[in-house]
Amino acid sequence: PLADMGDAEDFTAREIDDQPAAAARLVDSLSERLAGGLLLRELGVPARTRLRLVACGSSSYAAHVTAAVLGSVARIPAHVVVASEPPPPVEDPDVLTVAFSQSGETADVLTALEHWTDPVLAVTNNPRSTLARRADSVLDLACGPERGVAATKSFTNQVLAGAALAVALAAALGRLSTEDVAGFEAQLRAAPEHMAATHRLAAPPADRLARDLADEPAFIYVSRGAGVPYALEGALKLKELAYRWVEALPAGELKHGPLALIQEGTPVIAVQARPHDRLAVNAREMTTRGARLITVGPGEDADLPVKAPAVEPPWGPLESVVALQHFARGLTRLLGYDVDRPRNLAKSVTVE
Ligand code: G6P
Repeated sequence: PLADMGDAEDFTAREIDDQPAAAARLVDSLSERLAGGLLLRELGVPARTRLRLVACGSSSYAAHVTAAVLGSVARIPAHVVVASEPPPPVEDPDVLTVAFSQSGETADVLTALEHWTDPVLAVTNNPRSTLARRADSVLDLACGPERGVAATKSFTNQVLAGAALAVALAAALGRLSTEDVAGFEAQLRAAPEHMAATHRLAAPPADRLARDLADEPAFIYVSRGAGVPYALEGALKLKELAYRWVEALPAGELKHGPLALIQEGTPVIAVQARPHDRLAVNAREMTTRGARLITVGPGEDADLPVKAPAVEPPWGPLESVVALQHFARGLTRLLGYDVDRPRNLAKSVTVE
C-alpha cells in the first residue's frame, strides 16, 4: 500500500489532496440527471415526501447537511438518526430511509435498518458492501479507496451526493423549475474548484496555526446555520487525529453554558457561513471574555482563508472543512502522532 501514496507523506494527506478530483468525478456523474428526478428513476428510488437519514460519525454530519438542503431546496422534512440510537419504529408509508456509510459495513447502521420497513437508499463508497446488498438502491460515492481512518474525501462526496439527491427529489416532486435545477447543477459543478482553491489557500496558514496552537489542550469550534455540520466535522478531525479535547456547537448555544469554559487565550475556531452577522455577535461575546478567535472564512483577514463561491450554496461552506482538515493534520504531525492510524479507532466499525 505504501506504493499507493505517491508523493504524499500519509494517506490522509493524499486523500485531502484528492478531494477536488473525487468531487468532480461524482458531480460529473450526477449532474444532468437531476432534472425531472431522472437520477431517482435510474436508481429506482421512490420520490417520497419524508426522509429519515441514518449514519454514524462523519457520515452523520454529511447527513445533517443533506437534511438542511432537503428542507431549504425541496421543502422535504428530514431528520437525522444517529444509527446507534434508532428511535422506536413508527409506520409511515411516505418515508424513504437514506443510509450514509462510507464503508457500508458499520454495524450500527446495519442494525438500525432492521427497525424500519420503508425503502432504503444506501449512499456508500462500497457498492459491494453489506449495506449496499441490503439496500433497495445504491448511490456510489465513487471516491476511490479511503485508507486514512479519519474520513476526508468520503465526507465531502457524501455532502455533494446528499445535495444532488435533494435537488433530484425536489425536481421529481415538481418543486423546482428547470432553471432552478440548472442553477443548483452549476453550483454543484463549481464546488470542486472552490475546494481546490481552498486547498492552496489554507494549507500554509493551517500549518502556521498548528505551530502556534500546539500546546493548547482544548478547543471550541462554533458556527451558525449551514456552517454547523462543518464545525462539528472539523472538530471531530481534531479529536480523532490530534487527541485534543474539543467542544463543538452552534454558536448561539454558547451563552447557555459553554461560554463559562472560555478563559484568557482559549482558542475558538469560528466557521463562517452566510449571513456572517449572527456569528459576529457571538464572536464578540467570546473575545470580550478573552477567547482567541480563529476565523475560517472567505474574507482576506480570515485566519484560515477559504475560497467560497459568491453565492453560498444551500449546502453551506463545504470548502471550510478542507481548511479544518489541514489544520487537524498539521497539528497531529507536529505532535508526532500517526495521522493515518489514530489510537483506539478503526476505519470500519463492525461491532455495535
Ligand atoms: C468509523 C470511522 C469514521 C466514520 C465512522 C462511520 O468510526 O473511523 O471516520 O465516520 O466509522 O463510518 P461509515 O463507514 O459508516 O461512514
